[in-house]
This record gives sequence, structure tokens and C-alpha cells, in this order.
Amino acid sequence: MAFPKQVRLVEMSPRDGLQNESGPVIATSIKTQLIERLADCGLNHIESASFVSPKWVPQMGDAADVMAGIKRKAGVRYSVLTPNLRGFENALAAGVDEVAVFGAASESFSQKNINCSIAESLERFRPVMEAASKHKIPVRGYVSTVLGCPYEGEIAPEQVANVAKALADMGCYEISLGDTIGVGTPLKAKRMLETVAKQVPVERLAAHFHDTYGQALANLYAVLEEGVAVLDASVAGLGGCPYAKGASGNVATEDVLYMLEGLGIGTGVDLHKLVATGDWISSQLNRLNGSKVGQALKP
Ligand code: HMG
Ligand code: MG
Repeated sequence: MAFPKQVRLVEMSPRDGLQNESGPVIATSIKTQLIERLADCGLNHIESASFVSPKWVPQMGDAADVMAGIKRKAGVRYSVLTPNLRGFENALAAGVDEVAVFGAASESFSQKNINCSIAESLERFRPVMEAASKHKIPVRGYVSTVLGCPYEGEIAPEQVANVAKALADMGCYEISLGDTIGVGTPLKAKRMLETVAKQVPVERLAAHFHDTYGQALANLYAVLEEGVAVLDASVAGLGGCPYAKGASGNVATEDVLYMLEGLGIGTGVDLHKLVATGDWISSQLNRLNGSKVGQALKP
């Protein structure tokens, strides 16, 4: 299949990027500045926070303040994670544009991450879907551990397809497929995608690849060839999952953008502004910039 002409980048850094930062809770003002800068780069879908238990993920405890603090830019979707109805209600009160529910293809990861089985998680999402539909809030769905699980190892692509289909049937407009621990390789990513696309049309699929083993760009290239046109990424490669020990951040948005530009694929995002944003947040967090492109083009 030919590459898509246009790709929609979904920016993960304020949520997936910051949720796992060790040390003191990052100031709300840093989070809101990050979100505003990302919007100014031309990113029009920014996952901005999580309405989860602050005991489980302390870095996301100020989600309502973050949502209240950002100066919103017209045309930008500010989405958040909502694991249950309580999370959805809090998100709604905070004026979010979109929410996301998150399940897994692995039973063990589901238990560690959201404290319930896959089947129980789907039941928990139903009232979220109903409430969201009532309030006309679009819901995105995530499936984690699509190319491997930190507790179970290999995951059958059919298992990923089953969970993706359940989320799509429930009303998630798009399913983002998470290589949570970044263990995938291109052919595996392709095979997984092909299996899932038999159940959920490829137009409704997104790729959410972490870069632990340095394979994320190659894996993205493989699924772009399959027609995936929505890619999740995190500026400066920030992040990691608190329930997947050792997992590094999402693939860096700068690196993805540089590759897409080289392939002649449009995104509407300004690479130089993005590099400056990655450099800025890395220095704010006192972290090495995890983007190769960010390092090469350092302002
Ligand atoms: P639980 O313990 O099963 O649920 O947690 P519970 O209903 O018994 O509640 C436990 C406590 O949490 C109670 O407080 C509730 O009030 C509170 P306590 O009585 O102990 O003081 N609580 C909440 N507080 C605020 N907001 C809420 C909420 N719900 C309950 N919405 C729960 C279940 C899902 C809440 C918990 O397991 C949780 O918060 N987990 C966090 C999971 C998470 O955020 N993981 C990281 C994001 S997922 C990810 O990174 C993967 C992804 O990037 C894709 C990929 O890479 O694969 C998306
Ligand atoms: Mg993730």
C-alpha cells in the first residue's frame, strides 16, 4: 500500500511523557506551558492529563488544574485519560474535548495497570461510553502490550484484535495500539497490524510505540506501509509507563516528524519550533533530550 499523504500526530508528552517522572510533582505551570507550546508548534491533538487515582499516578494529580490553566487554541483537541466513570465525570467538569479509555491485550498488564481483568475493564468502560455519548465527547481507545508484555512475554495478534474490536464496537472512534514496552520489530508490527485490521478498519487505527529497544521508527515505517495515518509520539521522547518497569518513552515527536518530512508526508507541525520545545522541556526537567533529531538540531 502507498504511504498516506497526510499523518495526524497525537502528542503524548504532557500525559505519557510526564506521568512517570520520578522526583517531586512537576509544577502545573510547566505542564500548561508545555501544552501551549506544543499547540503553537501546530500539533492539534494533545493528550494533556489523566483523571486517574493520584495514589496510583501522583504526577497526574493536578489534571483539573492543568485543564483550567491552559490557554486554549482554536482547532486543538485537548484529550485526557479516563479509566472509569469517576474519571470521566471529573474530566467533563474540567471541560475536556475528548477522553480515552485504556485496556490491554495482556491479562497480567491489565491487572497491574488498572487493577482488573480485561473483561472487567471493558465493563468499566461501558458507563464511560454512555456518559460520553450523552455529552457528545469523542472517546479514543488504547490497547496496551500489543507487541509484548512485561509479565507474559509474547502476545498473540488475535488477542490484540479482540480487544481492539471490543473497544471499537463499544464506540471508540479510534483505537491506538500500544507497544507499551517497545519490544516490537517491524515485521511483527506489520503482522499484528494486519490481524487487527481484519477486525477494525485501518482508518480507525493509530500506532503508539515506545522506543525502549530503539525500534519505534522502524516499526512506524512498517505500519505506515499498511496505511496507518495516525501516530502517537512524545516530544524529546519523554515518558514511560509506571506499570511497565524499564520501559522508555514514546518515540520522539521530532524524530517522527523528521522521518515523515523525508517521506514527503505532511503533518502541519513546525519542526524547528518542536525542537525548541523539546529542548526547553528537557532542560526544565533536567533530563537529557531523548530525541536524536532534537540533539542534532539543538537551537
Ligand atoms: P482501583 O483501586 O481498582 O479502584 O483502581 P477503586 O475504585 O477501588 O479506587 C481506589 C482509589 O482510587 C479510591 O481512593 C478511589 O476513590 C480512587 P481511596 O478510597 O483509596 O482514597 N479513584 C480515583 N481517584 C481519582 N480519579 C479516579 C479514580 N478512580 C478511583 N478516576 C484505577 C482503579 C483505574 C482508578 C487505578 O488502577 C488507576 O488509577 N490506575 C492508573 C493507571 C494509569 O494511569 N496508568 C498509566 C496510563 S496507561 C499507559 O500509560 C499506557 C498507554 O500509554 C498505552 C501504551 O503505552 O500501551 C495509554
Ligand atoms: Mg504509552
